[in-house]
Amino acid sequence: MVTATAGAHPNLALVKYWGRRDADLNLPENGSISVNLSGATTTTRVTFDGALVQDAVTLNDAPASTPTLVRVASHLDRVRALAGIATRARVVSHNDFPADVGFASSASAFAALSLAATRAAGLDLDLHDLSVLARKGSGSACRSIPDGFVEWLPGWDDASSYARSLAPCDHWDLRVVTVALPCEPKLISSPAGHRAAPASPFYLARLKEMPHTLDVVRRALLERDFASFGLAVEREALSLHAVAMTSQSEGAPWLSGILYMEPETVRLIHAVQLWRREGLPVAFTLDAGPTVHLLCEGASLEEVLAAVTSATQGAAPQVIVSRPGRGAWLVDDSDGAEAPSDTSQAMWKCRAFGE
Ligand code: PMV
Repeated sequence: MVTATAGAHPNLALVKYWGRRDADLNLPENGSISVNLSGATTTTRVTFDGALVQDAVTLNDAPASTPTLVRVASHLDRVRALAGIATRARVVSHNDFPADVGFASSASAFAALSLAATRAAGLDLDLHDLSVLARKGSGSACRSIPDGFVEWLPGWDDASSYARSLAPCDHWDLRVVTVALPCEPKLISSPAGHRAAPASPFYLARLKEMPHTLDVVRRALLERDFASFGLAVEREALSLHAVAMTSQSEGAPWLSGILYMEPETVRLIHAVQLWRREGLPVAFTLDAGPTVHLLCEGASLEEVLAAVTSATQGAAPQVIVSRPGRGAWLVDDSDGAEAPSDTSQAMWKCRAFGE
């Protein structure tokens, strides 16, 4: 039996991936930029065991559902093909964050699984190859492999579509305040949203604008220019939602468009815009769900938290604060953690930054 354990954070897209060029390989139509979220972690242990006749998957102390088992087993097949082995595996995975909080748990899940499974299979992939592998499990998982602030290069084929670090965790004392509002399960999953997106008349307009959006966000991030950064990140999130709202989901012909926001989401967005008018440097972003992620610099955190508390009274949100997080890491049972083979991306600086 050979075992390895890995951890990974979910990531929050600042410029978002919406729409795929190749659904089998998870090749995106556009590049994206993200930050890893230190406030949430998936930890996954993989054991290849010759005594197993099929893969066994436990998530948060319960057997995985059939669709999840199938998805994890397909990913293990990719690892077995790379390693030239046929042995089945036992996967035990745990999230230290609630499922309904609006973090992309498939990103941290497939990043941790990719690292743990390749190591347990005797492989030592570099960050590029690990990111390519993770992408095939879940598109945005490729962005949880490198460190800190990350850009996913869309590429044109399997090998050229991968994520790399734009800046290490300690580049900018940015905070993400995730405000998860209680709500019903969403009607349309993000894979279905990706499929529906090209039906929107605004889809091509968004893609046309994308090189400019990427340039503005990348530059503002590298120059720590919060004012330009915040406005560009907000417009980008709203543009994804404009596409979603005007998409046609093939599985739901009764839906005129996909509306991921809830009334509380919209109320909080209005509040953020007013806070900014009053001088508080804060911005929001949204994924394919009602959770609002607020962005601010460390110096404004206390003020932002106080504003959120007073704006959401009665709504009982779950609030999780993150710093920029490191990329996927190996957990060494003897002393805690060990870095993947390529440590060139300041993997360890993140620890000094409070993780
Ligand atoms: O990786 P997926 O299939 O969960 O898609 C992610 C979609 C968004 O979260 C809305 C945007 C993004 O880039 O993370």
